[in-house]
Amino acid sequence: MPGDKSISHRALILGAIAEGITEISGLLSGQDCLATMRCLRRMGVEIEHNGDFARISGVGLHGLKKPDSTLYVGNSGTTLRLLTGLLAGQAFYSALDGDASIRKRPMDRVTRPLSCLGAKITGDFAPIVIKGAELKATHYKMPINSAQVKSAILLAALYARGETAVDEPGRGLTRNHTENMMSYMGVSLEVSGKTIKYVGGVPIGREIIIPGDFSSAAFFIVLGVLCAKEGLVIKNAGINPTRTGLIDALRQMGAQIAIENRKMLGNEEAGDIHVKMLPLMPIILQGDIIPRMIDEIPIFAVAALFAPGTTTIKDAAELTIKESNRITSMCMELAKMGAKIEPRPDGMVIHGGFPLNGAVLDSHGDHRVAMALAVAATASQKQVLIKNAQCTDVSFPDFFRYLRES
Ligand code: S3P
Repeated sequence: MPGDKSISHRALILGAIAEGITEISGLLSGQDCLATMRCLRRMGVEIEHNGDFARISGVGLHGLKKPDSTLYVGNSGTTLRLLTGLLAGQAFYSALDGDASIRKRPMDRVTRPLSCLGAKITGDFAPIVIKGAELKATHYKMPINSAQVKSAILLAALYARGETAVDEPGRGLTRNHTENMMSYMGVSLEVSGKTIKYVGGVPIGREIIIPGDFSSAAFFIVLGVLCAKEGLVIKNAGINPTRTGLIDALRQMGAQIAIENRKMLGNEEAGDIHVKMLPLMPIILQGDIIPRMIDEIPIFAVAALFAPGTTTIKDAAELTIKESNRITSMCMELAKMGAKIEPRPDGMVIHGGFPLNGAVLDSHGDHRVAMALAVAATASQKQVLIKNAQCTDVSFPDFFRYLRES
């Protein structure tokens, strides 16, 4: 699998402000991570990049330079939100903007906690302007489950006087790659239950090996469960438990998924995922598992189409503010294939087990929608045309080659 998108962003950002050299292998060269790299270079960070390798000469916590114009994040919400946290405590003005989809995604979820730290930011949507400010510690209780918000706060915490803490809400855990990467690079964090506290220290450059992206593996896990008569092995995928809710959900539906060759890459666990073709049963998907598979709901919906009976997805209203509104885009496009699927404000109701038809579909410019639709087409053995499919470049540039080869 290509490198993990979330971990690649964190490796680039923390490598940029680290003391010394960071060498990254397994970096994802998708459009989103390239956007992060471009923004960091615009602030004076030297990054050599070749394929999945990058060498960053860290400028230290206070070594970033004022960019000479607006930083452009393209389609990348992670770049926008994490950089807002990073820039809040700098000694210079900066501005961030992105494409039409980015401009519709809420930023107040990040600007509100950052203003508790003393940040001066204007704009509830991109473009946003950050007037660098002196930050002071706070203890912020997040009202929503979001790893991007948590990460923006932890990045700002590096610049704030005192010990900043952040609490995740409810019982569901969001991905903890920022915590893992910060600790790996020598930053002291205390994690106790749902509270993460920055205690001190600065990132120190290191060698980082990034595992394959579980969210990319997800498309092939579902493909394997639906139609790999001889089984399918996905090698070197990240299996951090804050990401693998899809495996638990599919197992509940009757799938057999085994993980072998487990190993640690830095503070992240990786392994080979073995999948067998088996019939699926419907389930109700809700609660704590949702944050652990938030990016996998589009492909989960495709799996549910092949499980005779009614599968319900609840507690997933966050899907409405992703790269597209993933509830409406998935329901609208799968309905064009004849699927019996109904949108709900916080999820979908899927009546599985009915045959699908060929159709002309649209990705809505959303990489995960495009890939989920491609798996629906492959598993139903129907000819489907997906318009605007190039957006897979955002997280999985070779997706269609991998699909053809499998
Ligand atoms: C991400 C967090 C998630 C996820 C996104 C990547 C990250 O977003 O959907 O694709 O790298 O932190 P939220 O924090 O909005 O849930």
